[in-house]
Amino acid sequence: MNKTVLITGASGLIGRPLTELLIKKGYIVHQLSRSISKANSGVKVFKWDVSRMEIDANCIEGVDTIINLAGEGIADKAWTPKRKQEIISSRTGAIKLLHDTLKNTPGHTVKTFISSSAVGHYGDRKDEILSEESEPGTDFMANTCLAWERATDKITNLGIRLVTFRTGVVLSPYGGALPKLIKPLKIGLGAALGSGKQWVPWIHTEDVVNMFLYAMENEGVHGVYNMTSPFPATNLDLTRALARQLKKPLWLPSVPSIALRIALGELSAAVLNSNRTTCDKIVEAGFKFKFPKLECALSDLYD
Ligand SMILES: NC(=O)c1ccc[n+]([C@@H]2O[C@H](COP(=O)([O-])OP(=O)(O)OC[C@H]3O[C@@H](n4cnc5c(N)ncnc54)[C@H](OP(=O)(O)O)[C@@H]3O)[C@@H](O)[C@H]2O)c1
Repeated sequence: MNKTVLITGASGLIGRPLTELLIKKGYIVHQLSRSISKANSGVKVFKWDVSRMEIDANCIEGVDTIINLAGEGIADKAWTPKRKQEIISSRTGAIKLLHDTLKNTPGHTVKTFISSSAVGHYGDRKDEILSEESEPGTDFMANTCLAWERATDKITNLGIRLVTFRTGVVLSPYGGALPKLIKPLKIGLGAALGSGKQWVPWIHTEDVVNMFLYAMENEGVHGVYNMTSPFPATNLDLTRALARQLKKPLWLPSVPSIALRIALGELSAAVLNSNRTTCDKIVEAGFKFKFPKLECALSDLYD
């Protein structure tokens, strides 16, 4: 019998290609969304409202694996106190709703729960090599990830295999960081950000969705994993590689950190924090990257 997977936040940057991959592999996909109208063809969509703690509990019927991607966009708007609360509560609330639904459904069939977290967990760490065992940071993103992972950890009390992916900067032409970096380059105004020395833990979107599939299909995978490529790049190297890929000049001095802090406030951490993560743990678990090197990833995305 085909296995059924429930994806939350499936209409987003990762959820769309992940849904396509799972359907192609023969899985039945259910989605949990704030809006039924966002349905892909071939999937069954169930509705929830995390702010009201409302969920259609039928969403877990016959489900083997839950993949949790839901949460308010982290870099979409300025981090006002209200926005910060929305970023955290959309994540912790989503997990609590799923946890309580599972707890209140005796005889449910869910065996695996895979959830996103982010490399923001580590805060700003300069050149330190960051494994899953490294200490968490102390800034807003780190506190958000801590609250997110603490909520997720409760799933293991239900006897369900839990995998948490600390996702890096997902490279996709359809959204996230890459189109924002490319916009100034296209009009000849590309420049590194801040010192340019900060490490960017990038990962190609195809490796992201393949890693979710790998975690689903391999029961030996459990616990926390960095979801980043084997070769993080500095912001300057990434900007240079993008300029080369797009055949655009890079002649401006880098944008000073202070200007970014004034323009973006606390949100500047999203581009100035340095995260030199290692992906050794998932590689040791047997996962093989299709795009381990930045140049190959960019030429695949933009050629
Ligand atoms: N993309 C990256 O570079 C990156 C890096 C690190 C971590 N992550 C994390 O990985 C997850 C998936 O990333 P993504 O890039 O695919 O995110 P995304 O494009 O922002 O999509 C997230 C989805 O979450 C749902 N959502 C948004 N606000 C919500 C709310 N208040 N309540 C419930 N659901 C809500 C939406 O789906 P519906 O409209 O269908 O409800 C949305 O499509 C996110 O949690 C993100 O923080 C992503």
